[in-house]
Amino acid sequence: MITITGAKSISGQPLTLTCANQTHQTIDATGLIALPGLIDPHVHFRTPGMEYKEDWRTGAMAAICGGYTTVFDMPNTIPPTISAALLQEKIALIDSQLKEVAIPLRYHLFFGADKKHFSEVHQVKNAVIGIKVFMGCSTGNLVIDDDESLHAIFAIAATQNLIVAVHAEDEDRLKSQKKHFQDQGALSYSHHSEIRDVQAACLAVAKAIELCRIYRTRLYILHVSTADEIALIKKAKEEGLPVHAETTPHHLFLNQDSYPQLQGRAVVNPPLRELHHNTALMEAIRAGIIDTIGSDHAPHTQQEKAKPYGECPSGMPGIETTLPLLLTAYHQGLLTLEHIVALTSTRAETIFGLPKTADWVLVDMDREAVVDPLKLKTKCAWSAFSGRLLRGWPIYTILKEQCFFLDDLRENR
Ligand code: DOR
Ligand code: ZN
Repeated sequence: MITITGAKSISGQPLTLTCANQTHQTIDATGLIALPGLIDPHVHFRTPGMEYKEDWRTGAMAAICGGYTTVFDMPNTIPPTISAALLQEKIALIDSQLKEVAIPLRYHLFFGADKKHFSEVHQVKNAVIGIKVFMGCSTGNLVIDDDESLHAIFAIAATQNLIVAVHAEDEDRLKSQKKHFQDQGALSYSHHSEIRDVQAACLAVAKAIELCRIYRTRLYILHVSTADEIALIKKAKEEGLPVHAETTPHHLFLNQDSYPQLQGRAVVNPPLRELHHNTALMEAIRAGIIDTIGSDHAPHTQQEKAKPYGECPSGMPGIETTLPLLLTAYHQGLLTLEHIVALTSTRAETIFGLPKTADWVLVDMDREAVVDPLKLKTKCAWSAFSGRLLRGWPIYTILKEQCFFLDDLRENR
């Protein structure tokens, strides 16, 4: 058994934590702050079919090193998670990979909305955390781009009492924008933000809110990236609709100015926006309009991200840097620790109806370290935040009474 003494809760309460590890020792954690184990409602751990980018062995290690003890995985795998049988196969693969690394990571899966498989939703309703609807195309082939199918899936979800998580970018707008820019000739990475513009996001968010109003479907809007979407979400919440909103670390802490340095590594859906949206997102967190932060951990290999625009896949890893970025924002006076706990655990518990756990992450609020891709556990081994000096890092993660010392894990890549 391991006994950890000296840590404090965010309100300054002294805590003594015990873990059921094989070794017997007492750890003096004086000076560390204990936060509830983090919940990441949005990861792409790539099993099945894209394990060369990530799998649950490396993904779980990355989660633990980031302070996360629960993740929700997305269905845009190969094959996508769109039927009851595919869901069961995915669960079996995940369980065996987690067993190999002896990390009992808590996880939940989203079911991918696919027109041909709507009839299977009732079969999987107790096995999934919600239904993921891609309103616009992104990585993979999942998309629901016609109104009839959107109405159908929102209605089904409401009757099954399932939450719908939307990737809200309007497919028609994306198509016409793409054509317009292609007709004009050469495209560079930064055109990504102009093609997948603010209007594409707003059209889809407005439509999703309208469907929520009609069917009273619980709605979770993924990766909100603009001030304009925030305005729509604020109105919907004031109206009393069951609408919840997530943002990501990259939409909070990166913007279109990042393209010259990051090149293809900055390409993500929805895209990076102008600087003023960063500020608006931070304000929306403080105002309680944004509920959660999802890392949208979407690893691709460095070779893939070096491809020219058009061939370079969208997405970036994030689960290991989200908490240090938030803690750095705390030191800058942008967020309180209460905001961070709400964003990274308690709001997700409420929205998705998760039971409270005794998982913890102990952070050293004053540790300063530069993001070093060689110390990351994600298989893709790069970060858009590489080289950034961050203050506030997780030191211990406690998952199901098992204590992980993160410096040891980070050293052994
Ligand atoms: O940038 C993104 N990457 N956005 C998505 O919607 C999907 C994700 C991925 O799976 O790579
Ligand atoms: Zn995603």
